[in-house]
Amino acid sequence: MEEISVLQKERSRYQPKLPPLFAEHGLAVKVLEGMVPEPASAVVTEILPHTSRLPLLSFGAAPARPSRPISAGVVLSGGQAPGGHNVIIGLYDALKSAHGDSRLVGFLGGPSGILEAKFLELTSDYIADYRNTGGFDMIQSGRTKLEKEEQFEKTAEVCRELKLDSLVIIGGDDSNTNACMLAEYFLRQGIDLRVIGVPKTIDGDLKNQRVECSFGFDTATKVYAELLGNIERDADSARKYWHFIRVMGRSASHIALECALQCRPNITIISEEVAAKNIRLSSLADYMAGVVWKRSEKKMNYGVAVIPEGLVEFVPEVKTLIRELNDILAQEKDHFESLPTDEDKHQFLMRKLSPESAQTYASMPTAIRSQLLEDRDPHGNVQVSKIETEKLLGDMVADRLRDWAREGKFSGKFSVQYHFFGYEGRCAAPSNFDADYAYSLGYTAAALLASGRTGYMAVVRNLARPAEQWLPGGVPLASMMTLERRHGREVPVIKKALVDLEGKPFREFLRHREAWEVENHYLYPGPIQYYGPSEICDRRTKVLELEYGQNLADSLARSNLLKDAAFLSELNEEELAKFIESSQRLAVEKGWVVIRRGEEGRAFYVVVEGELEVLGPDDRTVIATLKKNEPFGEIALLTDSPRTATVIARTDCELLMWDKQSFLDFISEHGPVEEQLCQLCIQRMEEQR
Ligand code: FBP
Repeated sequence: MEEISVLQKERSRYQPKLPPLFAEHGLAVKVLEGMVPEPASAVVTEILPHTSRLPLLSFGAAPARPSRPISAGVVLSGGQAPGGHNVIIGLYDALKSAHGDSRLVGFLGGPSGILEAKFLELTSDYIADYRNTGGFDMIQSGRTKLEKEEQFEKTAEVCRELKLDSLVIIGGDDSNTNACMLAEYFLRQGIDLRVIGVPKTIDGDLKNQRVECSFGFDTATKVYAELLGNIERDADSARKYWHFIRVMGRSASHIALECALQCRPNITIISEEVAAKNIRLSSLADYMAGVVWKRSEKKMNYGVAVIPEGLVEFVPEVKTLIRELNDILAQEKDHFESLPTDEDKHQFLMRKLSPESAQTYASMPTAIRSQLLEDRDPHGNVQVSKIETEKLLGDMVADRLRDWAREGKFSGKFSVQYHFFGYEGRCAAPSNFDADYAYSLGYTAAALLASGRTGYMAVVRNLARPAEQWLPGGVPLASMMTLERRHGREVPVIKKALVDLEGKPFREFLRHREAWEVENHYLYPGPIQYYGPSEICDRRTKVLELEYGQNLADSLARSNLLKDAAFLSELNEEELAKFIESSQRLAVEKGWVVIRRGEEGRAFYVVVEGELEVLGPDDRTVIATLKKNEPFGEIALLTDSPRTATVIARTDCELLMWDKQSFLDFISEHGPVEEQLCQLCIQRMEEQR
């Protein structure tokens, strides 16, 4: 081994934490099936008939480890994210602990490694150097997309030659979309090759109702927040510069928002708000210049502004310009490139663009214009990391302030420094959270493979809590798919999760925005800490804390609600809280079929908000209405028979859901609840008759 730093040496000895189930039982676990999530639309089911009706999965302890070895391939796809090595190592450790003859093959350089059969048989000696390290250098990564049938065939062929029975794809929204299509293809063709996805990206945009966050976001934002805090302190020390800082994150502004919540800079632009309010570039510059002016009135000719990397694609007129440029460059690339001078190219574009876009384009500094023309990435997107939006806005703000100075409104100074925080965050040594989470995801992927599942994303829930309370599981990839128009046709894709303007993190930012603009409320989070008190070393991101950290408070609030639920009346507060802890919160839209007559019963529900209808044998006549605090779904679970009625949401509803096993385990320990539910079950069956 080459010489490594002292910290690296120490980190290589760190044993990542695992959910208790895996920590105690390794892969001696059995899979528990939960509800089948409703696909986004009938078209998704049509396109993905084999993978769109799979149930949610969780795990319970089992008496024995898997009896057969597993031979898996693993690939890293897309941009680096801290924790990638630990996913592979978690996968490796789990497979080997379950069966000594299991194998793990790493495909080199991303998905192209599969197509070109470039691989490495991973061994415990080889992976040892990579434990808890940042980067993807163990097997490297790449951005080749696996999306065409001939690529799927090639994948099957290469895996067959390598005698692999499974493939784990560690990637973002696009790579997991492709993992789903691959799983569907293999099932359709009868190819015995299982596919599991793992959620990766520093951007934080691969999350949804069932995926709390991707690995990498925690570490990357901690690195950026450290740098941002340092800059804030420098700004406040020298009091002579404004710092305009662009932070990575391609499209969504999760990273910018997280940095804002951690450090409280004076200005943070959130792209999603810009798009929602249709804010033009000139209005953005007005707003930023306004803050500079307000601070200058208080003799504070300094400050810090955070600008998300993907902003330009959310500003309405620039978005239109980029779309038009994409089309022109796609259709007339050769001609455009053959034009001899920059001026010829400029004139050509001015002729081709719509008048509004031509005006926007012409108003931009030359450097930004050429950045907008740089090569597109393999997905056809502008490479936003190359567009210096901070400089564009800095120039525009300076122009405004000059005008205002001429008008006698502004008498301060505006001297600006530019920064881009991007690549420096992607390969940092993973925080304890990312080291633990990524390792647990690897373990979860192995458990899904061991149970023979395909078409799933490995997930770990309850992440805002200590790892001792983490819950591993599997979410069908197809259940995350929605239809999107790409290249002129509707295709199922996993949508990028943008910042929710109604969500707690953004609302928290809004509550403070004005105060942070004019006063200094800077926070200095400092560097990632790997050793020391848990409140420093295991600190979660603000976004995760705000979105999920309230679970305890929430569940207590919810337990207040369920206090009026007759069937739970015998439980004390602690028992009630525990019962609620093992549930999952489910938002159900009006019209959704929650339970379908004749199907296998996999979950038990209680209504928290809204109303549902129970339909009679004709599946049309309403025989009962379910309201707040009322349970349903118990008959099939208690009688071990198919669902006896269809239940459909009459309004948007919020439900609590327990998978069959958790429900049966709980009631078997709480006789009075079981008794109440049995009585209810008998009464309902009689009513149905
Ligand atoms: P992924 O979505 O693949 O995780 O990549 C994220 C990212 O780091 C973005 O934040 C950034 O815009 C982009 O990758 C940069 O891509 P590249 O590494 O190809 O320059």
